[in-house]
Amino acid sequence: MSQKLKALVIGAGERGYGLKSNSELIDIKAIADINPIRRDSFAKSYGLPEEMTFEDGRIPLNKRLNVDFVYVATDDKSHGDLAVTALENGYNLLLEKPMASNPKECIEIVNAHKKSGKTMSVFHVLRYAPFFQRIKKEVVSGKIGEVEQIDLTEEVGYWHFAHSYVRGNWRNESESGPIILTKSCHDLDLLVWLSESKPKTVSSKGSLKFFRKENAPVGALERCTDGCPVNECLYDAREFYLSGDPTKFPFKNVCVGSKTEDSLRKAIETDHYGVCVYKGDNDVLDNQEVDIVFENDIEANFSLRRGGPDMTRKIRVYGTHGMLDGELTSGELTKTIYSGKKGMDKIEHISFGNLGGHGGGDPLLVKEFIEAVRTGKSTLTSSEESLCSHLIAFASEESRKSGKIVLFNNYLKSLQIK
Ligand SMILES: NC(=O)c1ccc[n+]([C@@H]2O[C@H](COP(=O)([O-])OP(=O)(O)OC[C@H]3O[C@@H](n4cnc5c(N)ncnc54)[C@H](O)[C@@H]3O)[C@@H](O)[C@H]2O)c1
Repeated sequence: MSQKLKALVIGAGERGYGLKSNSELIDIKAIADINPIRRDSFAKSYGLPEEMTFEDGRIPLNKRLNVDFVYVATDDKSHGDLAVTALENGYNLLLEKPMASNPKECIEIVNAHKKSGKTMSVFHVLRYAPFFQRIKKEVVSGKIGEVEQIDLTEEVGYWHFAHSYVRGNWRNESESGPIILTKSCHDLDLLVWLSESKPKTVSSKGSLKFFRKENAPVGALERCTDGCPVNECLYDAREFYLSGDPTKFPFKNVCVGSKTEDSLRKAIETDHYGVCVYKGDNDVLDNQEVDIVFENDIEANFSLRRGGPDMTRKIRVYGTHGMLDGELTSGELTKTIYSGKKGMDKIEHISFGNLGGHGGGDPLLVKEFIEAVRTGKSTLTSSEESLCSHLIAFASEESRKSGKIVLFNNYLKSLQIK
């Protein structure tokens, strides 16, 4: 068996711990986190010595540690700087999405990557989920004919939306980025991958409709935990956060350090997770539409929905000779091949079952990244292709704010990309 690859992890949060599902391939040798409690607890769980724990991601990057790759899993805003520093210091890089929170930094990362000659992958996991792999295979096989349209809907899930995008880390654009980037660059990446083309035009609309002060129930207090008298609120932090296992997602994200019911209760009493969903400092949209016409004339529509019972993606790919229709979380995919005779189309049901978060894509992406680092031969998504999905997100915001259709080539020129 080949030796495990040595890793430096930057960011001891939810994602930073995620590499453990590939522990047969990876040996974590160092950790950096600006939060001492998270840093120490990560170091303890991996038995790391003090000299391999760092107070900020830049410190180990500049030390050129003897590791095979670095995993940047910090807050969105810090990705740009850490990614460029990692590549300039000769590290192979596994970079959490989004690449960075503005176009300039995204482009700088791609330039640094090209210059470095190192292996790099953006953590766009959905491509690796067996469900989406099968859709890609069907599209490439040509069995449904030429693809004409793709409709993709992301349902964030009503409770998940409130947790992450109203109360949590991604609630405020100035602290993370627009939701079409921070949440849905995954979906835009899928559309680029499936269409195998570049956008000709991008247009978008969206709003923050629901989680606004004027929608607060009468009598609602600023914090649920101050004894809010409103009954039967779907978003009562006391009901929601104290209803689950404090060691599991999403409850474990609420408290830094020990994950007990008592620490969870204390956290919601003092921190942003206890704030009324209608009265907080959230400003990211809770619904958005993006329409893309690709250069090969495929039309794609992406809808971001805050609702739905849970996190999932729903997709329809319309071809000239058939259609694919599926839902990620249930793992159910239907392939219809048109017959030209009423009621006699050939229908095939394909079931992957529920393979967990991101349809099981995370460990598969990591496996491919490890293989690319090991062999120096990469089948990973190129950094330019990852850049494309990010630029579509920024172009969507330009369209949404201006109310105009963005000509993608003109947008690229404005960023001085040919
Ligand atoms: N690929 C995916 O599907 C996916 C899913 C969820 C989150 N993410 C992304 O992963 C990243 C991490 O998300 P998370 O849920 O783990 O967040 P988190 O808040 O749980 O963890 C982030 C950690 O980074 C640390 N940190 C911030 N700046 C740092 C710096 N300069 N140096 C060292 N440590 C620093 C924080 O203290 C924190 O512990 C985010 O960018 C997020 O958007 C990706």
